[in-house]
Amino acid sequence: MGFRTIIEPFRIHSVEPMRLTTPAERQAALESAGFNLFALPARVVLIDLLTDSGTGAMSRDQWAAIQRGDESYAGSPSWYRFQDAVQELFPFPHVIPTHQGRAAERILFSVLGGPGQVIPNNTHFDTTRANVEASGAQAVDFVVPEGLDPASLHPFKGNMDLDRLATLLSSRSDDVPVVFVTVTNNSGGGQPVSLENLRGVREICDRYGAPLFLDACRFAENAWFIKQREPGQQARAIPDIVRDMAALADGMTMSAKKDGLANIGGWLAMRDDELARRCREVLILTEGFPTYGGLAGRDLEAIAQGLQEVVSEDYLRYRVRSTEYLGEALLAGGIPVVRPIGGHAVYLDARTLLPHVPPLRYPGQSLSVALFESGGIRSCEIGTVMFGLHPDGSESPAPLDLVRLAIPRRTYTQSHIDYVIEVCLDVASRASSLPGYEIVEAPQSLRHFTARFRPLSPVA
Ligand code: F0G
Repeated sequence: MGFRTIIEPFRIHSVEPMRLTTPAERQAALESAGFNLFALPARVVLIDLLTDSGTGAMSRDQWAAIQRGDESYAGSPSWYRFQDAVQELFPFPHVIPTHQGRAAERILFSVLGGPGQVIPNNTHFDTTRANVEASGAQAVDFVVPEGLDPASLHPFKGNMDLDRLATLLSSRSDDVPVVFVTVTNNSGGGQPVSLENLRGVREICDRYGAPLFLDACRFAENAWFIKQREPGQQARAIPDIVRDMAALADGMTMSAKKDGLANIGGWLAMRDDELARRCREVLILTEGFPTYGGLAGRDLEAIAQGLQEVVSEDYLRYRVRSTEYLGEALLAGGIPVVRPIGGHAVYLDARTLLPHVPPLRYPGQSLSVALFESGGIRSCEIGTVMFGLHPDGSESPAPLDLVRLAIPRRTYTQSHIDYVIEVCLDVASRASSLPGYEIVEAPQSLRHFTARFRPLSPVA
């Protein structure tokens, strides 16, 4: 107590080598990847901030739990440990394991979605939107206006716009099979949702008889922000805040690759018996038997242990502070970033940093390519490449053009992050010379994963 430095609350137990590359190697890798960072082999990436999903370091106790994994097809003890750990935080009667978050989404929307249905969310993540749309339903985003303003310092920029939700439900409640709230709001900058807002959503859902589900990927980070920022929550334990969030919902989808602190896994959970029965039928068809659902027993064990570790205050304090450390340094260097700094990532505002590149020339793509070129950092465009293509084939600018520097959990040290800061400052100093891009090849949906690009003018 009394010291200012917030340290990594762990020491390193096994290490992975990293490989430095030359600028010429990186340029060649970019060209053969069609300037799409998803197509790069990870061995040419020095610091991989593409995603915080499944890329974190597991703890000693998680590796030990893996040894305990029991691979019984049905009713494995590992399944019961997993179920207990999930229900300790999210006391839903039905827990349905899946191999990752989008499998839970696909199962749920294949049961609840369909043509004519509309599903509101604060902001759908890309796979969530794609799974809603694949069912024939429409996905609508109702985040509060502050959530779309990168400079707004609102403490809960992930909140749902209650007026817009109520307006939709008042006219079309029969067409809304479920209302979703994503905690934290990944696509909107990793911003949290308050308990007060969740209560407001609940009240509207009750008024119109719509179930409320959480996309709970980063529930622990959301609970930490509630503890820090929401009046009256400061003295409360994180697991209690998580249980409050769960109590306001009828179910959840989850990717254990985020706040499960695991490398793979997810689940779908709910109160409704009939809905659970229908989801389990789909599960058996495509994922597996209901006590393993696409996961090995050892994966279930790693998640069960991860759920105990992720609600630790030492961990969460370090986690959120270390992300903020990166964001604050970039801000101090004059780089526009989404504020307040989110939990799992820092989002650079590429549209503001590259005003000479119009949204349909993909400023986020340009900035993320430049970060790799300059320093071997892999980031992720979250903007018009990811969200600009619509199911009817038309294209329009996304609300924001961001570049996400996602921080894998417990993986990089402060000096790695200091290096990232240096590279970002270097690229920002040359921002006005970065080119726009055009897409030369792309699939019909989720194009950001496989599209190929061409720079429109040579990098100066
Ligand atoms: N919901 C949110 C809010 C997410 O961020 C993700 C994944 C998913 C659902 C799907 O989970 O990957 O296990 O199938 N987000 C990752 C990311 C991929 O990079 O933000 P999944």
